[in-house]
Amino acid sequence: MDQKLKKNRKLQKNFFIKTFGCQMNEYDSNRIADLVKTIGYKKTDNLENTDCYILNTCHIREKATEKVYHDIGRLKKKYRNKKKPIVLVTGCVAQAENEEMLKRETYIDAVVGPQSYQNIPKILKKINDNKRKLNFTDFDVIEKFDKLNLIKNHESKISSFITIQEGCDKFCNFCVVPYTRGAEYSRSLDEILIEARELILNGTKEITLLGQNVNAYSYNKGKKILRLSDIIRSLSKIEELERIRYTTSHPKDMTDDLIDCYKDEKKLMPFLHLPAQSGSNTILKKMNRKYTKEEYLLIVEKMRKISPNIQFSSDFIVGYPGETEKDFKDTVDLVKRVEFINSFSFIYNKRPGTPASNSVSIENKVQKERLIILQNLLEDIQKNKNKKNVGKLKNILVENKLKNQNKYFGRTPELTPVIFDANEQDIGKIIKIEIKDFNQNSLFGSKIKINKEVAA
Ligand code: SAM
Ligand code: SF4
Ligand code: F3S
Repeated sequence: MDQKLKKNRKLQKNFFIKTFGCQMNEYDSNRIADLVKTIGYKKTDNLENTDCYILNTCHIREKATEKVYHDIGRLKKKYRNKKKPIVLVTGCVAQAENEEMLKRETYIDAVVGPQSYQNIPKILKKINDNKRKLNFTDFDVIEKFDKLNLIKNHESKISSFITIQEGCDKFCNFCVVPYTRGAEYSRSLDEILIEARELILNGTKEITLLGQNVNAYSYNKGKKILRLSDIIRSLSKIEELERIRYTTSHPKDMTDDLIDCYKDEKKLMPFLHLPAQSGSNTILKKMNRKYTKEEYLLIVEKMRKISPNIQFSSDFIVGYPGETEKDFKDTVDLVKRVEFINSFSFIYNKRPGTPASNSVSIENKVQKERLIILQNLLEDIQKNKNKKNVGKLKNILVENKLKNQNKYFGRTPELTPVIFDANEQDIGKIIKIEIKDFNQNSLFGSKIKINKEVAA
């Protein structure tokens, strides 16, 4: 091999990034990658041979936090007889445990909170100069986005994310997010549009707008306060963009201007993830969710009037402190009434530092029993909805070819995953797929030869 090439290869440092948690962490990992590349690092998928290991973490439940320490334990074993990679822990565990983490796991070189990612190039340089145990966990969201706006978003997926809102001011009594992500902050419409155009130039056809409370988006532009509805309407005008989604929404912020978008914005998909958490007003109050079951149902009703085929998904917490059999039945009733297309359900997990952590938990056996009942019900509804699609033609945005299979992957307007026969040239296009089979999570089908009219 050419000596110069050999030397360059040695000089070329690489990084490996692993992501836990929500879609906002996924977006952040991509942006961290964009940042690290600016100082000459190259992304690798080879964990056996990396110069820098970045673990982007989630603090939402205890299990998610413990996974971080297990992961670093495994990494240590792998590198026992090799040069140690730089280890950065980013994300919500880094923010919440910062100094403590550095003490508990000495293999970590730096902890970097979600509002401090702009410092990562500087941190890597410091570590390369033999400085260790660095703690970057300040909340400086303005500086973060000011810096990130200067760096192009290199994501080139058909379906991509843009964070438009960070943080949370809701303070639900069970949740760590307001403490790990800080106060609500909304990015300007201009920077969102610039980033959207970058993604579209890279081939993106669908954008999901992200925020811990995305529908609380509020940006003061001169005399006008811009809301999520303004972002959706502006993005809709970009011709090459086919689909728009947003997540996660809080029922309290489901305002009429946003609901109205479903009347005329055809690019806005008929699907809404609207976490209810519980169907009991007593528990919703204890959770500090700021809405009632009736208010939640009213939103669903309003939206179904405007967009009759709209589908809803939700998150549920089962076995919250004080949850009685009657409270649980109210949740079951809500699920039956709304018929969610899919949902996440979790047993309540006590998180240190949250107000609910001072309450007495209910018996774990009861929590588990209730979770099984709820999950069985949610599964039945989901399967039934999927079954109803068999024989129908659906508009599918083709995202990618599956690895090691001659099949393609895409989603329905209602976000259901679909696996089907198609061609390489279909990637990035919306094509009509005839649904032939289903399981709990997915639909299966093939591209139709003749153009038939599609219902959805
Ligand atoms: N902002 C979103 C909302 O208000 O609905 C939720 C964001 S949170 C990152 C995702 C989900 O994690 C929540 O909807 C909730 O169901 C679940 N979660 C949060 N804290 C939890 C806890 N202490 N125990 C169990 N599940 C929890
Ligand atoms: Fe957590 Fe509640 Fe904020 Fe959602 S709204 S991130 S559940 S505190
Ligand atoms: Fe987890 Fe933080 Fe997201 S706690 S769910 S990574 S906001």
